[in-house]
Formats: sequence, C-alpha cells, structure tokens
Amino acid sequence: MAPAPYVVPQVDSAAVFKPEIFRGKVLFCTGGGSGICRGMTEAVMRHGANAVILGRKLDRLTQTAKELSEATGQICIPAQADVREPKTLQDAVRKTIEKFGRIDFVICGAAGNFLAPISGLSENAFRTVLEIDTLGTYNTIKATIAHVRAAKGSYIHVSATLHYNGTPFQAHVSAAKAGVDALSAVVAVEEGPHGVRSNVIAPGPIGATEGMDRLSLKAGEHRAPAYPAGRMGHVDDVANAAVFLFSDAAAYITGQILPVDGGFEHLRGSTVPYPQAVLDPASVAHMISPKL
Ligand code: COA
Repeated sequence: MAPAPYVVPQVDSAAVFKPEIFRGKVLFCTGGGSGICRGMTEAVMRHGANAVILGRKLDRLTQTAKELSEATGQICIPAQADVREPKTLQDAVRKTIEKFGRIDFVICGAAGNFLAPISGLSENAFRTVLEIDTLGTYNTIKATIAHVRAAKGSYIHVSATLHYNGTPFQAHVSAAKAGVDALSAVVAVEEGPHGVRSNVIAPGPIGATEGMDRLSLKAGEHRAPAYPAGRMGHVDDVANAAVFLFSDAAAYITGQILPVDGGFEHLRGSTVPYPQAVLDPASVAHMISPKL
C-alpha cells in the first residue's frame, strides 16, 4: 500500500523573515480589497509597511483597510480606482504621496475572470479582461514608476500559470496574463538601471478565494486534483512569495516569473495515478521498467 503523501506545511512569513524588514516602506496594491492581493498586503504590512489598497468598490476597500490596520498595527488606506482609468490611478498615487510621501512596492493585482468558450466569448468580454489585466497593469506602472524609481523599489505583477498551455474557456485571461508577463520583463530591463526590480507571481489554484469559488467545480463534482506539494495553495503561500520578492533577499532577482502552485503545473503530463505511483511504484509495476 502507498504511504501517505507528504503535505507541505503552511508557514507564516514572520517565522522566517524579521518583523521589521519593511519598516518605513509603502505598498500600493491594486485589487487589494480581497483574496490573494489582500493576503499579500497583510503580509507586507506585518513586516512593517504601510499600504494603500485600490479597487472599484469603496465599501469593501474601506472595510478591508480597517481590518488590515487592526490586524497589523500599520496604516492601510483605501483608494477607489478602476485600473482601466488612468486618472483614477493618478488620483490614488497623489493620495498615497500626500499620506505617506513615497511608494516603494507596487502589486499589480487587479484582474477579471470568468469561464467562457472562445466560440461564445464576445469581443467586448475579451477586451474587458485585457483592459483590466494588461492595460490595467500598464496604467498602474505608468502612474507609479516615478515614485518607485525614487524609492529604488519593486513591482510584483500577479499573473497565472494557465497560459503556459491551452486552458479551456480561458482565452481572454490567457492572452491577458501573457501580456502581463511580458510587461514585467520589460520593466525589469528598462528600469533596472534606475534601481527598480520587477517580478511576476503566478499562482496556481488557491483555495478559499473568490476566483476558485467561481472558476472551479465544487468538491465532489470531480476527482480532486493532486499536487506534488500534497495540498492546494493557500493565500499565505502567495503572500510569503511576495514578502520574499520585495525583500532584500531577492535583490538579485528581477524579470522572473515565480509560479506558486505546489508543482501543480508540471503534473499535466502525468499518465500514471499520482501520487500513488511514485509513493508505491509496485502498484504500477506492470507499467514500468525495469521490473521491480
Ligand atoms: N461570461 C461571459 N461574458 C462575461 C461574463 C461572464 N461571466 N462577465 C462579463 N462578461 C462580458 C459581458 O457580457 C460584457 O460583454 P458584452 O457587452 O458583449 O455582453 C463584457 O464582458 C463586459 O462585462 P461588464 O460586466 O460590463 O464588465 P465589468 O467591467 O463590469 O466587469 C468583470 C468585468 C470581468 C470584472 C466581471 O466579470 C466581474 O465582475 N467578475 C468578477 C470579479 C473577478 O473577475 N475577479 C477576479 C477573480 S480571479
């Protein structure tokens, strides 16, 4: 019988990184009102940064900002903005500078997603997701770059792994995220000599997020996918990657894409039962050679 698979622990970044590494720094995060971006903001704040979170829904942002301030003892303020509207981003940058005087870190995280076959996807629907994800990332970079240069700061762009292959019903997001990856690489090269780093975090399936709720079948509706890391991702896994990439420990890392998916992406080609086959090769002895 196969032994139980190892399940990687869920780690708090405070157990690995010093609490003060971001003291005096300021984070500007689009999409910070909920989900993965909220989690990344909270983690960066726990290490001493103040933050501005942006989104379209002011009620939700205001509530999240209050909760993050209470949870971390740092200051978080909301700024209503639509990343498709450069003017709203410029206003949010102005508000950030008035309040904190600088922008060190930017998370370009605002995104739109839904499942739709390309045969049924309207031109406007395709354009809308490209405008939020790709144009929105460009707009955010443009609005913040002068301040990030001044701070010798760093960008993290939230992408995905689904465009590394053909993912059904995700033409719009695949195209949009490929553009995000490309923008980050250009920022790394153009802005590196000015002291700015730019990297991409590509989350795999992350549990308990709005995206997962809407974009995947519920447990029991399909065979649960297997992960080399033994479990589905958690918001904290992505948050820990953000803390690392913003930290000086990543000073020599720029222009890179960091999938945070527990190895999930590499499993697409598996033709044997996983992880049972690697934990108990005898269970597939008839399929492998040399014979055990
Ligand atoms: N399926 C197919 N098409 C959709 C869609 C869906 N679920 N949701 C929106 N669209 C289409 C609309 O029909 C419209 O196209 P049309 O004019 O041809 O009908 C186009 O996209 C724009 O939609 P609209 O609702 O006007 O845009 P919006 O800017 O208000 O919102 C989203 C767009 C993507 C943000 C919206 O779908 C949304 O709110 N999603 C939930 C939030 C989200 O995606 N979070 C990210 C989690 S990973």
